[in-house]
Amino acid sequence: MKDKLNKIEEVALQEAAGAVSEIELQQIRARYLGKKGEITAVMKGMGQLSAEERPLVGALANQVKDRLEEAFAKRQVALRKELMHQKLATERIDVTLPGRRQMPGSKHPITQVTEEIVEIFAALGFGVAEGPEIEKDFYNFEALNIPRDHPARDMQDTFYVSEDIVLRTHTSPVQIRTMLKHQPPVRVVAPGTVYRRDSDLTHSPMFHQIEGFLVDKKVTFGDLKGILTTFVNQCFGKNIDVRFRPSFFPFTEPSAEVDIQCVICGGSGCRVCSQTGWLEILGSGMIDPEVFKSVDYDPEVYSGFAFGMGIERIAMLKYGVNDLRLFFENDMRFLRQF
Ligand code: FA5
Ligand code: MG
Repeated sequence: MKDKLNKIEEVALQEAAGAVSEIELQQIRARYLGKKGEITAVMKGMGQLSAEERPLVGALANQVKDRLEEAFAKRQVALRKELMHQKLATERIDVTLPGRRQMPGSKHPITQVTEEIVEIFAALGFGVAEGPEIEKDFYNFEALNIPRDHPARDMQDTFYVSEDIVLRTHTSPVQIRTMLKHQPPVRVVAPGTVYRRDSDLTHSPMFHQIEGFLVDKKVTFGDLKGILTTFVNQCFGKNIDVRFRPSFFPFTEPSAEVDIQCVICGGSGCRVCSQTGWLEILGSGMIDPEVFKSVDYDPEVYSGFAFGMGIERIAMLKYGVNDLRLFFENDMRFLRQF
């Protein structure tokens, strides 16, 4: 019995030393010390031993059991250590490597200019409104006093989606949408994307406008002139020449277009300003009583002015860009300058 126990211990220790994982070690331990393990079996069988043998074998079995428990515990610690070293070796992070850099992004120049313009008008008390880019003929034309088959429709080359639906050609439909929802006084700017069949140095088929309008009692053309002059001075500085040039829009009467001195050539004439020295930045005027009728405002009580400016034109003049199409080519060498 003594020899048998010693043999069991020897083999168990060898197996424990050879175990390569904690799971394997646990299996070995169960084979010897578990409920059906070999040492357990010896202890259970002690009843058949003689009275002298029993205490001797019992003591030895307990010693073997203790030694094995200790050996298994030590091996377990060693295995854990090995595993950690392995992990450290394979999962090592080289902290001297350069970090992954985030490419810094920036706002598109058109977005920047739009925000600047909105801010100037916000300081003058204007709120902000928006409308859809795919628009009903009614809002884009009809309610703005441009009936079907009227020659004024040719002023803006339109992309039609269907008979009654267009890609909005200007931001003026937002005037109608806003006035139908709110009673005067209203004071709103509406920035957005618009579409026309147009393309050259100063025209693009997709471009941006900012609409602005104010309706209240006793609004005059003087108010229009004052607001727009203030705007131009804040946007371009006081030293730039501005002129109001009589014009026509079906939805305003009287109407005026505003030109500013061409910043590219300083007014002497160049390709951008078609040799005139001036660049048109916006259309404006006193809101036509016909428009008030289509939104149910009483033209006897209320008056107002409206304007719509081209944001790309303003950006060109602000940054001295001589071709509007550069804004939409997404050439990083161009965009990085802003
Ligand atoms: C209008 O679109 C009117 N809705 C403006 C208006 C609003 C008048 C309210 C009165 C009251 P116009 O077609 O002129 O007007 O365009 C306004 C501005 O948009 C122009 O002055 C110009 O700066 C810009 N613009 C016009 N077409 C283009 C284009 N194809 N590409 C870039 N900018 C353009
Ligand atoms: Mg015009």
